[in-house]
Amino acid sequence: MNLLVTGGCGFIGSNYIHYIFNTFSDITVINIDKLTYAGNLLNLQAIEKKYGGTRYFFEHADIANADAVNSIFEKYDIDAVVNFAAESHVDRSINDPSPFITTNVMGTQVLLTAARNAKIERFVHVSTDEVYGDLSLDDPAFTEETPLHPSSPYSASKASADMLAYAFYRTYGYNVSITRCSNNYGPYQFPEKLIPLIFTLASADKPLPVYGTGMNIRDWIHVSDHCKGVHLTLMKGKAGKAYNFGGNAERTNLEVIRTILHDLDKSEDLITFVQDRPGHDRRYAMNYSLAQKELGYEPEYSFERGIKETLNWYKKNTDWLKDVQSGAYLEFMKKWYGNN
Ligand code: NAD
Ligand code: TYD
Repeated sequence: MNLLVTGGCGFIGSNYIHYIFNTFSDITVINIDKLTYAGNLLNLQAIEKKYGGTRYFFEHADIANADAVNSIFEKYDIDAVVNFAAESHVDRSINDPSPFITTNVMGTQVLLTAARNAKIERFVHVSTDEVYGDLSLDDPAFTEETPLHPSSPYSASKASADMLAYAFYRTYGYNVSITRCSNNYGPYQFPEKLIPLIFTLASADKPLPVYGTGMNIRDWIHVSDHCKGVHLTLMKGKAGKAYNFGGNAERTNLEVIRTILHDLDKSEDLITFVQDRPGHDRRYAMNYSLAQKELGYEPEYSFERGIKETLNWYKKNTDWLKDVQSGAYLEFMKKWYGNN
């Protein structure tokens, strides 16, 4: 199978490409990435070295650029698309929603149109639990039937993309499925997101910014469980359907932060309560029984095992962290791909 992956240089996309090469010997990957601040070629250096030009091909392109996307569909004999590419950070979307609409909404539309025109048989669109809005403490977990009710410009853009995917199924009968997953953690996550951010700051004995009371709840899933869920959806998911994925690990932000502090043997005095995020979702929780029943999905990681392994990965990969923080990796990428 020739698989087109978008956003493969980001956190989840690069973990997915690693998962593909570690698990299958008969899949070729074409990775389209715009290399925004979140896209990092270092994440796939080992894959590029081993499989570059034979089973792995990188295309530096923007999914919202129809000409570029169409020419990639012409160049390769693609069987299926998995769309990870997105602007993904809620706080950035609050500062400036515009790139979120361009990439997450228009980019998805361009990609769906190009894939359908090129008669690509299968398309998986990677979405998020955030499209459902939030839950109170005693609400049941989100199901795929929960109405979409997004809170932030980020989640509104993801919900819009989901609606386009549904429309392509309903209007054109296009074979597209949607995955919706809770908060991921694991190797290669950019240190603007809670877990790598707290690791980085606490390691340097810097204050840890906790929004509001720190009592907001997220369901945490190890990225490798999410990657398996995405691949099961690609292989077994039904057209026009969305599948929820969760990690069975609802934790308050304070619980997560204390776990990290305990592991690093750092003082809780570093915790610093700061002004809350506007529109901050109270709680996310996932009912993923549909994925269990139809896809055979089951998360393998407990939060305790996953966070331990993840923190160990960050401790071992301080160079990676330093590079993504210093911008050295941007220099590295410029050398290979220029300034565009
Ligand atoms: P990320 O920000 O780490 O990576 C995004 C990648 O997309 C980067 O490599 C970036 O360069 C690339 N990209 C951005 N705009 C692009 C464009 N216009 N064209 C081509 N490439 C572009 O994000 P992530 O955390 O890996 O998330 C991947 C997907 O999973 C997103 O669709 C996100 O909404 C979804 N998701 C994320 C989480 C999470 O906890 N991180 C949870 C559920 C769903
Ligand atoms: P984040 O990693 O940004 O993911 P999301 O907003 O998509 O869930 O944030 C996870 C939780 O941590 C969320 O409730 C916001 C909170 N948070 C902080 O308290 N301080 C921070 O500096 C960040 C980045 C997040």
